[in-house]
Amino acid sequence: MEKAVLLEREGRVAILTINRPDKLNALNEDVRNLTLGYLEEIEHDDEVGAVVITGAGDKSFIAGADIGEFEGRQPFDQREAMRFPRVFDVMANFPKPVIAMINGFCLGGGCELSMSCDIRIASDRARLGQPEINLGLIPGGGGTQRLPRLVGMGQAMKMILTGDMIGAEEALRIGLVDEVVPHDELRARTLELAAKIASKSPLTVRVAKEAMRASERLSIDDGIVYERDLFCLCFSTEDKKEGVAAFLGKRKAEWKGR
Ligand code: COA
Repeated sequence: MEKAVLLEREGRVAILTINRPDKLNALNEDVRNLTLGYLEEIEHDDEVGAVVITGAGDKSFIAGADIGEFEGRQPFDQREAMRFPRVFDVMANFPKPVIAMINGFCLGGGCELSMSCDIRIASDRARLGQPEINLGLIPGGGGTQRLPRLVGMGQAMKMILTGDMIGAEEALRIGLVDEVVPHDELRARTLELAAKIASKSPLTVRVAKEAMRASERLSIDDGIVYERDLFCLCFSTEDKKEGVAAFLGKRKAEWKGR
């Protein structure tokens, strides 16, 4: 039987594909565990500079948590299923950038997983939503926290309280996705972006992501101080010396990741 998550590499980009197309790539325990395992592997692989996550098939990114797992479940069973570390938080804090390649339905836990990514590129066929309200549930993968931060309170309220799906262009308009591309160009465009990021100094990319993620939890004043300290820390790296020397020497920098 094929694995529920596939890992492939293209150059310095790792591509994770949720592989349950007959269930529109719904997130079940197997998918969550395999994804966590692959992320651990990717974290320690110096040959990987960026990660792309997508769904198998032509129809769906991830259509949410596997609703079949909810039936008959008791609260403590559910709590066990939602034990830490959770894939949503691991991805948000992952030391390498993660790009969601949204190739179709992006619902519930799928929308939440995409919001844990650093950048979202959507096919013009994508449909996004938080339909949990229709199941007598609320988002449980960070949606009530990350969605208002991304799109503002009113738009988040509209999506979570109605459960309605929105199209890719509307998602772009409200800031839920960062780019919309024709469906047939989605993979090429996403990999182009990921490869570009993966060609930079992995150490500097990591620090830049860390600084931006810190803005989600720090006050503006604390964040500015944190950024100043990380900026100064970059003066200790070989890559800062190389980057400055390359600019002044009018040549291309060769990053060491140190
Ligand atoms: N969990 C489990 N199975 C799911 C699923 C989910 N979140 N989403 C889709 N599937 C399954 C369907 O049950 C169906 O399986 P079957 O062929 O064995 O019956 C298969 O995937 C195809 O889905 P189907 O509903 O037939 O496709 P559609 O094109 O008619 O509708 C959706 C697509 C996305 C609108 C619809 O599948 C849907 O509403 N899914 C649930 C979305 C949701 O509520 N997510 C949040 C969960 S918390």
